[in-house]
Amino acid sequence: MKLKWNLKTVMDSSRQLLKVENLTKKYVIKNTFFKREYFTALEDVSFDVKSGQILGLVGESGSGKSTIGKIILNLIKPDEGKIYLLDKDITGKLTKEDRKKISIIFQDPRTSLNPRYKIKDIVEEPLIVYNYPKTQRKEIVEKVIKDVGLDETFLDRYPHELSGGQRQRVAIARAIVLNPLLVVADEPTSALDVTLQLQIVNLIKKLKDEKGISFIFISHDLNVVGYLADYIVVLYKGKIMEKGLKENVVKTPLHPYTKLLLQSLPPDHPKNRKTFIAIKEDTDLKEGCEFRGRCPNAQDLCKQKPDYKTIDGREVYCHFV
Ligand SMILES: Nc1ncnc2c1ncn2[C@@H]1O[C@H](COP(=O)(O)OP(=O)(O)O)[C@@H](O)[C@H]1O
Ligand SMILES: [Mg+2]
Repeated sequence: MKLKWNLKTVMDSSRQLLKVENLTKKYVIKNTFFKREYFTALEDVSFDVKSGQILGLVGESGSGKSTIGKIILNLIKPDEGKIYLLDKDITGKLTKEDRKKISIIFQDPRTSLNPRYKIKDIVEEPLIVYNYPKTQRKEIVEKVIKDVGLDETFLDRYPHELSGGQRQRVAIARAIVLNPLLVVADEPTSALDVTLQLQIVNLIKKLKDEKGISFIFISHDLNVVGYLADYIVVLYKGKIMEKGLKENVVKTPLHPYTKLLLQSLPPDHPKNRKTFIAIKEDTDLKEGCEFRGRCPNAQDLCKQKPDYKTIDGREVYCHFV
């Protein structure tokens, strides 16, 4: 029944699952009687997640990726902007029913799984919170553990008895046990070895294809995002530099930052290695384009903030595209 609802949503592709509109978030970094200082972690961030789509949110450490995830999950409130889930405004007020439709996976399953609980209790807990009857709970837990590529023998074990990759599979099982519409995966592969990363990435792809679950996949690695995502949002210092369909952003990047990110990826073959372009030292300039302190093409005009330009089906934040 619930699966049908998911598939129905997927097929209705005109339907926007999640709309993130003009988010701005400032953290208070100094708070004294005389003075309050803020750090702008996000500025005017907007993007849409379509049903059955994987949106890749890519940016280096500190660019504001987790802040976006936390705002969507209502763990923190934005200063400005709105979040809509299926056209309903959920900014700062997720009801229990809405909360069921969105879940989150964190980077490190060692800290996100309760070490004193058995795997079956960890996966079952959300079902108890939502008053599923006991017999049904057992059945769902046994099914979902297989959906993530483990078997029933894992259910009686504790997290410390599992490998990193297996623990992340358990975290994913817990995140999908209520059959959500959207999972925010915040760097779910960053703590894993390369071979395990690929397994988890492929599992996420499978869950999208087979269950129609949408994902916001957060990563600092454009290589991984380029493999997995349908749509890519490139973030730098809390500002979107470029966003668009994966095919466009990865094959013909337009923003200088996206180009630099792609050039720094290892080539498929050493023969294809390009001349290394040094990324300029970050000089942290307060005004104008957020990227100009590191941009190889920066000019005087960049002291003013650019507008977003729509080019070839994507939006780019740069004066010179
Ligand atoms: N509670 C907080 N108070 C002050 N600054 C914060 C807080 N949380 C995050 N920041 C700052 O906001 C910026 C973005 O953080 P975050 O969203 O965690 O980035 P990312 O996930 O991309 O690494 C960082 O510079 C971080 O130091
Ligand atoms: Mg983060």
